[in-house]
Amino acid sequence: MNKDFTVTPWEISGKVDYDKLIKQFGTQKIDTSLLNRIKKHTKELHPYLTRNIFFCHRDLNWLLDEYEKNNKFFLYTGRAPSGKIHIGHLVPWIFTRWLQEKFKVDLWFQFPDEEKFLFKDDLTLEDTNKYLYENALDVIALGFNPKNTKFLIDTVHANLMYKEAVKVAKKITFSTTKASFGFTNETNIGAIFYTSMQAVPAFLPSVLKGKNIPCLIPLGVDQDPHFRISRDVIPKLGYYKPAIIHCKFLPPLTGPEGKMSSSIEESAIFTIDSPEIVEKKIKKYAFSGGQPTIEEHRKKGGNPDIDVSYQWLRYFEYDDKKLKNIYNDYTSGKLLTSELKQILIEKLNKFLKNHQKSREKAKKSVDKFIYTP
Ligand code: TRP
Repeated sequence: MNKDFTVTPWEISGKVDYDKLIKQFGTQKIDTSLLNRIKKHTKELHPYLTRNIFFCHRDLNWLLDEYEKNNKFFLYTGRAPSGKIHIGHLVPWIFTRWLQEKFKVDLWFQFPDEEKFLFKDDLTLEDTNKYLYENALDVIALGFNPKNTKFLIDTVHANLMYKEAVKVAKKITFSTTKASFGFTNETNIGAIFYTSMQAVPAFLPSVLKGKNIPCLIPLGVDQDPHFRISRDVIPKLGYYKPAIIHCKFLPPLTGPEGKMSSSIEESAIFTIDSPEIVEKKIKKYAFSGGQPTIEEHRKKGGNPDIDVSYQWLRYFEYDDKKLKNIYNDYTSGKLLTSELKQILIEKLNKFLKNHQKSREKAKKSVDKFIYTP
């Protein structure tokens, strides 16, 4: 086991070495030939692909083989309601939206409202239910359409999902979950069962349609262990192994390492933060790769690779030219940390202003997204 960093669905710590993670998890790097293959269909590539933010995959070539044979896939991703949405959460969903539009496919979005209830001591089902609604607004605000986007809510759709989940559960042993998640004899049995619920949407559309449909799951790489297990089981039930595309984590505001966390207020920008709060947080907390004094900075330049403001711009400034200029100016010392922070503040506030407007509008349409047979 690698001890410099840890990536599990419940813990991300240390400086994640993504190349090592690819080896540890046994995923495939997204290389130029795969990018070209995607581009053949999408005409252009999302910056999250060209910037290596979505960096590895499982069976994406197979998925494209099927797509090219007119066997269209559906997308599946999800969110366990547990707190406010921060901008790091949005990354896989923004990309999912793009994939949906480019490939013209359906999305099934799971809200496992029992997950965080089972995994966190202090959350009640009433709490997760409140967050479910709040979180759904953020998903919808990214531009999804109820015509091709269906929400599955574990406690609401239990009648549909449970029957499939037990089929998965029957094929997973306690020792497998122990090895994958570090469960112990003290782990509650709901948590042990949970992976089988997260597996269901990867094949439920096939069950409902009565025919096999390929599935692609965009996710933060910390979610991979659930599907490593599920991918072994799902074919045994007669369905396709889901393909996966994995993304890296947006670094926390406060440091170059780890992952943004909803429970650490200063590590994150939340989608409902006001422009003033965004400005204050970035000015106060954004980890800087700049030099201690202006003179030194002008002479030696800053280090964009550890500078959180620059790293965030890689996720939110889509214009490659602009980004490159910022990189060069920061490295040469022409651009100061305070100026770089200002660029980020403006970029994010513009994004959030739009997002908050759409989020307000979403309140009228939540019901339309909830799957009804
Ligand atoms: N476990 C995820 C979370 O903690 C939620 C989730 C459910 C999910 N199904 C998924 C994430 C599929 C990615 C892909 O938020």
